[in-house]
Amino acid sequence: MLNTLTSHHIADNDWYNAEMAKSLIDKIFFLDKVDAGMFVDFGCANGVMLGFIEKVFPGSKLVGFDTNPEMIEEARARDPNSKIIYTSEWDEVRELFKDHKATAPRGQEKVCVVSSSVGHEIESYSDEEAKALTYRRIWGEADIEWDYVAWRDMMASRAASRPSDPIAVARVQQIFEAKHPGLIAQWEQRWGHLGENWSLLHFFMTYRYVANWDREYRENYLPRNYEDFMASVPKKYMPIYQDRFTLPFLRRRVQEDFGISLSDTTHLKVVFELRK
Ligand SMILES: C[S@@+](CC[C@H](N)C(=O)[O-])C[C@H]1O[C@@H](n2cnc3c(N)ncnc32)[C@H](O)[C@@H]1O
Repeated sequence: MLNTLTSHHIADNDWYNAEMAKSLIDKIFFLDKVDAGMFVDFGCANGVMLGFIEKVFPGSKLVGFDTNPEMIEEARARDPNSKIIYTSEWDEVRELFKDHKATAPRGQEKVCVVSSSVGHEIESYSDEEAKALTYRRIWGEADIEWDYVAWRDMMASRAASRPSDPIAVARVQQIFEAKHPGLIAQWEQRWGHLGENWSLLHFFMTYRYVANWDREYRENYLPRNYEDFMASVPKKYMPIYQDRFTLPFLRRRVQEDFGISLSDTTHLKVVFELRK
């Protein structure tokens, strides 16, 4: 049990690649739920997901947008034969949207924007003005209304805020503190006592990154609860698919490392459809 705590799995390439492939399958959950001829990956990072979609649906128009130009360069370099367009210029996305609407064959006109693991970054790192701009881009501006918005991110219910199971806290102290003295105290100073279940759940989502602890423990994986998120979505977008789940990989790791069954959901996948 103790040996798995230091993420030794990362050193195992086959295991790591298999886990990455599984997470890719999870990330394209929206593909069979929408009727779109164009996809815009908002916060596409190095373009892995779009590269995967291009293989499965080579006929789709695919656009990757990311505010980090280094990510865009990396994405472009991945496959010189790819037709995916990567950009950090929002005006270019807007023009591609308009062009698609004007020229797409019948039945291919609809456009889906995808926000995968971006929401928590927007909430954690942007000031109010940048946040408002980003949400305008995702939920539609005067001249862009996405037909679908597919959202996937870490997210827990408000109901996760409750006293923790004291046995779970004791187990974490026993296993994690023994191996990494002082890190729990550091965690609790920033995120609150593990006796509060929200902090414990957040800890379970973070503890395996102990190799990058200084960076990771500061990151807020759960900046907004599910209920507040749903209340923030414009009413013109109707949820047509939803899955609130505990990441199977995380559930397994917490079980392996601590012998604890995670009972809270940690992730949300939802597809919204524009209804006029
Ligand atoms: C955690 S990564 C997720 C990458 C990928 N979508 C995935 O599911 O694995 C978040 C990405 O969103 C980008 N990002 C963060 N804030 C953004 C914003 N306001 N607009 C566009 N991209 C943003 C970051 O540069 C980063 O590449």
